[in-house]
Amino acid sequence: MEFPQEFIEKLKKSESILFFTGAGISAESGIPTFRGKEGLWKNYRPEELANFDAFLENPDRVWEWYQYRRKIIRDATPNPGHLAIAAMENYFKKVVVVTQNIDNLHNRAGSKEVYELHGNIERSYCINCKTFYDTTQFKSESKVPHCPKCGGLIRPDVVWFGEMLPSDVLASAQKAAEQCDICFVVGASAVVYPAAYIPITAKKSGAYLVEINIQPTELTPLANLSLIGKAGEILQAILKQMIENR
Ligand code: OAD
Ligand code: ZN
Repeated sequence: MEFPQEFIEKLKKSESILFFTGAGISAESGIPTFRGKEGLWKNYRPEELANFDAFLENPDRVWEWYQYRRKIIRDATPNPGHLAIAAMENYFKKVVVVTQNIDNLHNRAGSKEVYELHGNIERSYCINCKTFYDTTQFKSESKVPHCPKCGGLIRPDVVWFGEMLPSDVLASAQKAAEQCDICFVVGASAVVYPAAYIPITAKKSGAYLVEINIQPTELTPLANLSLIGKAGEILQAILKQMIENR
C-alpha cells in the first residue's frame, strides 16, 4: 500500500496519536456493526432495545439481547486492526484510543490507554443501589438477574440512547483530542454525537485527520486523508510504514 508523502512525513514527526474507533474496527472480528442489516436481532433495531424505557418495559428481552451479543464478543478475538493499534505504542510517545465500542477488544489487544465512551458490555450495575458487577458472574442467566444486595434490576454498564456519556471519560478523551498530532477515525459512521465531536475537536486543535473506512462518511470532507478499505489491512500497512521509517 502506497501512502502520500505528506502523510509519511507526518508519521515521522508526530509524537502523540489518537485513534477514534467505531463498530467498523471490530467487523473483521465478526462482530456486527449497528447500521448494517446484520445489526438486527429478532427484527429489532438496536435503537429499539438500547434504551432505558425498553429495558423497563421488558428487561428480560433486553437482557437476552445483551447475552447474545456477549456470546459473540467472547467468542471473537482482536483482529489485525486492534493489534496494529496496540503495536503503535512502540513507535509513538503517546497513543490514545477513544472508542464507541463496548466490546472490550482494544483492551484484549493490549492497548494501554483506552477511553470507552459508551461503556463496556462486561460490566453491569444495579439500577437501584448502583453496585457494580462483573458480567461474567451472570454468564448463564437467560433472564435478567436481580441485585444480590437489594433485589434491583441489573443492567449493562453501557450508554443507551438518550443517556449521557460518562463525563470523566469524555473529558479525558476531549483533552487527548486537543493534544494529539494525528487523529485516526477508524470504522465509525460519525453520526452519533457527542462522540463524533472528538475527531472534530482534534482537527480544530490542529491535528492531521485521517479517516479509515470501507466507504466515505459525513466526516470525509473534513479529513486531510481518506483511506478507503478494511481497517485491519490499512492499519497493518501503516504499522509497516512506521517500521520502515525507523
Ligand atoms: P456504525 O455501525 O454506525 O458504523 C460502522 C462504520 O464502520 C461504517 O461507517 C462502516 O462503513 C464502517 N466499516 C464497516 N466495516 C469496516 C471495516 N472492515 N473496516 C473499516 N470500516 C468498516 O458504528 P459506529 O459508528 O460505531 O451507540 O456507531 C456508533 C454508535 O451507534 C455505537 O456505539 C452505538 C450505535 O448506536 C450506542 O450504543 C450508544
Ligand atoms: Zn442493588
